[in-house]
Amino acid sequence: MTRFDLPKYPGEGPDTSVGVDPALSADRPMIDPFGRRVEYLRVSVTDKCNLRCVYCMPLDGLPWLKREQILTYEEITEIVRVMAGIGLKRVRITGGEPLVRRDLPDLVKMLAAIPGIDDLSLSTNAVLLDEQAEALKDAGIHRMNVSLDSLREERVDAIARRPGSFPRIMAGLDAAERAGFDPIKVNVVLIRGQNDDEIEDFARITRDRPWHVRFIEMMPTGGNLDVSAEQFVSCDEALARIEAIEALEPVTGPFGNGPARYFRFPEAAGTIGVITPMSHNYCDRCNRMRLTADGQLRPCLFGEVQTNLRDPLRAGEELLPHVARTLRIKPERHHLVKGSAAGSGGLVALSQTGG
Ligand code: 5AD
Ligand code: SF4
Repeated sequence: MTRFDLPKYPGEGPDTSVGVDPALSADRPMIDPFGRRVEYLRVSVTDKCNLRCVYCMPLDGLPWLKREQILTYEEITEIVRVMAGIGLKRVRITGGEPLVRRDLPDLVKMLAAIPGIDDLSLSTNAVLLDEQAEALKDAGIHRMNVSLDSLREERVDAIARRPGSFPRIMAGLDAAERAGFDPIKVNVVLIRGQNDDEIEDFARITRDRPWHVRFIEMMPTGGNLDVSAEQFVSCDEALARIEAIEALEPVTGPFGNGPARYFRFPEAAGTIGVITPMSHNYCDRCNRMRLTADGQLRPCLFGEVQTNLRDPLRAGEELLPHVARTLRIKPERHHLVKGSAAGSGGLVALSQTGG
């Protein structure tokens, strides 16, 4: 066991105390065949994005969904309402970039009113956050994840490939702090030669700012095979470099603790997290499903398994059996392999499923 192969936190890992019951109800919440309790849904509200991050989206974009293919806010709310009746507790709004969809605070208000949903969060690139932070907070978003792969303007330009974004992202982060989002998590996808020499700078920020900086290992998708193989950096390397500054202590993460493991410099305001889909698989404690912008319920980020909820919903059918079926086919784990599209199951970019 290396220094960073930490033992599991107590209570982590599959919950095998309850069997799988296809007849889901409020008393029989969603538990998959591997004993994992699903209480978290990531809802993608759009496949579009105003950035073109090198590991995510081709410069020319992707073939976008048509308007009629995309779920309305009412349809999303209905799906979340049905799932809240069988144990869904937390919803994260994602994209593409969710803030490019009009009137997002309206959806937030609708979701916040659903009984059983006690946590609403948002993942954003922060380009449009400055103008929307207050309204989103008032509508009911508590927590925020911001993608920021470099602290230097010219590098953000090179990675996100939409020059002029950096000052807006910084203004967005300031606005998020002012509006009182807590915690604020900053996601840094590690890219060899483009930001790996900033690992220490990102780590040092946590001494003063209450940010939770999370380093993410790049995952291969159909659209990034060259970058994700050639410029891959492991989180073990990141942690070793940070520990050369000062010893880290393992800590329990901020609320919303998902796949990340967290550490801290002594006395620091924030924490340092690592998300290691490639080097240390964490599928055994996966607690989530994903809803794509066009209404496919995906039990795993990768793989081809998904259930169309949109068409049954539009046909006035009961959704519960479709959700139950998706739960029963939740894969045990992903099978990502560096440099190969095989494991990503036809996915070109994470923006198609909400990351
Ligand atoms: N590998 C790892 N992280 C990715 N993200 C997008 N694509 C990838 C990828 N291929 C990140 C974004 C964002 C989060 C939702 O997922 O940067 O922070
Ligand atoms: Fe947009 Fe996020 Fe993909 Fe970057 S990673 S292109 S911000 S969806």
